[in-house]
Amino acid sequence: MNALEVAGLHQRFGATEVLRGVNLEVRAGERLALIGPNGAGKSTLFNAISGLHAPSAGEIRLNDRAITRLPVHQRHRLGLARSFQISQLFPRLTVRDHLRCAACWQDGQGHRFWRLLGRQQALNARVGQWLDRLGLSARAEHTAAELSYAEQRTLDIGMALIGGAQVLLLDEPTAGMSRSETARFVPLLRELTEGKTLLMVEHDMGVVFELADRIAVLVQGELLACDTPQAVRANPAVQRAYLGQAEGGAP
Ligand SMILES: Nc1ncnc2c1ncn2[C@@H]1O[C@H](COP(=O)(O)OP(=O)(O)O)[C@@H](O)[C@H]1O
Ligand SMILES: [Mg+2]
Repeated sequence: MNALEVAGLHQRFGATEVLRGVNLEVRAGERLALIGPNGAGKSTLFNAISGLHAPSAGEIRLNDRAITRLPVHQRHRLGLARSFQISQLFPRLTVRDHLRCAACWQDGQGHRFWRLLGRQQALNARVGQWLDRLGLSARAEHTAAELSYAEQRTLDIGMALIGGAQVLLLDEPTAGMSRSETARFVPLLRELTEGKTLLMVEHDMGVVFELADRIAVLVQGELLACDTPQAVRANPAVQRAYLGQAEGGAP
C-alpha cells in the first residue's frame, strides 16, 4: 500500500515549467530520498505535497485519498507533516512547551485548552517520554533559541511526531550540521521514524545511502529514476546527470 502518491504533477510559475509530469509512489513505512541537482524542483515538489502551492496539474494522494486541493492544516490532520529547511520554532518557548503544544494539537484540543487540565498528568508523561526519545531531556527547560542547530532540527521533527505525523517530509534535514552532529542525528532519525513513512530531500550522499530504502532522482522537473540505492548508484543516466557531478564536488 502507498502512503503517498503523486501522479502527473505539473508546476508552472509563469512561463517556467518547474515540474513536468512527476509520478512518485512512496510505500507505507518506507524511507525514500529525493535527490537531484540544485534547481531540479525538489523543494517545489515538497511545496505541492505539503500544500503550500496548488499544482498546475496532477493529483496527490495520501493513504489513497486525494489531498491535491486540501489546505495545509487539513493535510496535517490526516497525518502529513513537513519539516522546513529552516526550523520553524518559537525562540523564547522552552523545548518542553514546544512538545506540549504539539501534543495538544494532536488531541485536537488546541482550541479547548481548559479541558486538557484534567489530563495534564498523561500529557506530561507523554512529553517526558518524547524528551527522552529525542535525547533532549537535559534541554527541556531551555528555550529553542538556546539549542544547537541539530537540536532544533530534532525538536522540529519531534513536534511533528508527537503531533501524530505518519508521513514525514524532511527538506535537507542535515543541512547546516557539522559532521559529528550528522553522525549522531542519522541513527536517531532512523529510530524516530521507524514504522513511519519518510520522504526526504538530502544532499549528503552518505546520509542518503545510509537511510533510504529507495532513491528518487529528479532532474529538470522530471523523475529520472526511482529505485533501490544499489540500482540508482549503478544507473548510467543518474551518474551522468547527478552523481558524477556530486563526486566532482558540486551537488
Ligand atoms: N515561487 C516560484 N516562482 C518562480 N519560480 C520558482 C518558484 N519556486 C521555485 N522556482 C524555480 O523553480 C526551480 C526549482 O526550484 P526548487 O524547487 O527550489 O529546486 P531544488 O529544491 O531542487 O533546488 C528554480 O529554477 C526556481 O527558481
Ligand atoms: Mg530545495
